[in-house]
Amino acid sequence: MNETVKSQEELIQENIELRHRLDEANSIINAIRNGEVDAFLLPGDNGGKVYVLEGADHIYRLLVEEMQEGCLTVAQDGTILFSNENFAEIVKTPQQYLAGQSFFEFLSSSDREYLHGILDLNQDHFKTELSLITQNGLNVPVLISASLCQIDNESFICLLVTDLTELKRSNRLNTLAFEQANSPQIVSDQIGRVIKVNQAAKEIFGNKIIGEIFDRVIPLYKETTGSRFLIQKELKKGPVSCQEVVFNKNIYFMVNAGYIYGEQPNNLGCLITLVDITENRRYKQELSRLDRLNLVGEMAAGIGHEVRNPMTVVRGYLQMFSSKELFASHKESINIMIEEIDRANSIITEFLSLAKTKKIPKKEIDLNEVIGKIIPLVEVDALRQGHEIKLELQEVPNILGDEKELRQCILNLVRNGLEAMSNKGTITIKTYLFDGQVVLEVQDQGCGIPVEVQKSIGTPFLTTKDKGTGLGLPVCFSIAERHGAVLDYKTDSGGTSFYFKCPGVSQQLTLPLDTSLPIPS
Ligand SMILES: Nc1ncnc2c1ncn2[C@@H]1O[C@H](COP(=O)(O)OP(=O)(O)OP(=O)(O)O)[C@@H](O)[C@H]1O
Ligand SMILES: [Mg+2]
Repeated sequence: MNETVKSQEELIQENIELRHRLDEANSIINAIRNGEVDAFLLPGDNGGKVYVLEGADHIYRLLVEEMQEGCLTVAQDGTILFSNENFAEIVKTPQQYLAGQSFFEFLSSSDREYLHGILDLNQDHFKTELSLITQNGLNVPVLISASLCQIDNESFICLLVTDLTELKRSNRLNTLAFEQANSPQIVSDQIGRVIKVNQAAKEIFGNKIIGEIFDRVIPLYKETTGSRFLIQKELKKGPVSCQEVVFNKNIYFMVNAGYIYGEQPNNLGCLITLVDITENRRYKQELSRLDRLNLVGEMAAGIGHEVRNPMTVVRGYLQMFSSKELFASHKESINIMIEEIDRANSIITEFLSLAKTKKIPKKEIDLNEVIGKIIPLVEVDALRQGHEIKLELQEVPNILGDEKELRQCILNLVRNGLEAMSNKGTITIKTYLFDGQVVLEVQDQGCGIPVEVQKSIGTPFLTTKDKGTGLGLPVCFSIAERHGAVLDYKTDSGGTSFYFKCPGVSQQLTLPLDTSLPIPS
């Protein structure tokens, strides 16, 4: 048997001795804690040193023991003379092993040097942040408040150690939540000067707004009245909650803002959150447009037929009168009446095509072929007005739809384009693939769609033209809907582009996708 292996009896004996020593150590600690001893001796190179605990009334000692912060007294050379349970907890070291250890052992070499530097200054009090290294090698950020004291010509340092782990974590969380919020968040000071912005705000307003007055660099307008929306003025009335404002004419924000308070009664500044609701508004408008369209469709389907019947009768009589000798002198007027009835009839036909319930026979259609067929019809008109029609057709997959309806849609869009151009201009009709969708684009160089029309675009009978009926676009939207397509547009004073985006039948097209095309999402 190996000599170093201890027998069971030896182990039991050793265990009893160790327990005995532990009991001794515990009773010494308890004695110190309860004020039952006045002094203790620490072994050292020169035979040990006695530390007297005089004056440390045990009530105070209890207070220190129960504190939620680490508390220790160290000798001038850093030897720990006393530490409370909380400090032991911070450094994950049993309390009984701390007395006699050097406080510097819990510091990294750089922090050690730094603390020596501070101590050399001999200040009575100082506060500093350091990292303590625990027994299991973890770093604990702490705030150290130190006071130098002197008892009987002997110098001691009393340290209060606050664990900053939670505070740092929650500060970091706060910073990250602010930084990474999807909506722009801006902090301004008491006079409204921007002092902090998050990433989303930087992306919209740039970096240069820091230090500037918020209301000056981010001009917001009330949507209803068009007047300025001044945060500083609004905040005087109370916190700003869910106010809808316009920025840069076409970005809509919902504003929330409130003062930030610290311990003092005066505010420190304010936090402004801007939620971009531009897309939401667009959806809302689109929904209400669809609602109106639906209503109009139902009405059209209901009354269209009834109105046509009496008109057919009137037209029939007029035709009959026009062939009678008796009305020969009124023939011209009768013909005008017939023409007007025909016009009314065609309006009803268009109106009827808005009916949502209308079913269309769907066939595979080559969009380029449809365009090829109808262009000669509009080209004559265009040339007469001094305009030009250009085609930029790429190979695209067939789409499923109704040729008559698609023709109608293209004609309406091209006619609108022609009517929007007062000077010589070009209509460009393009087809291409974008994002897996077949796109038909009709681009003009006209005056752009007036803002008031854009707000209610697609509403039946909305027109700015003397002889317009305001049904062209509603019909196009309705055709797009029946084809599972989206009709979108982009407009400014230089012209307008309408995009009819429709799923293709075959996905096996070899054309490369041009992702640089300016299609509104
Ligand atoms: N390409 C465009 N450029 C500028 N404004 C346009 C364009 N397309 C449409 N609009 C505006 O939208 C309005 C509605 O167009 P819509 O086609 O529905 O009716 P319209 O052209 O006025 O009459 P019609 O029923 O004869 O087509 C137009 O009156 C015009 O103000
Ligand atoms: Mg039109």
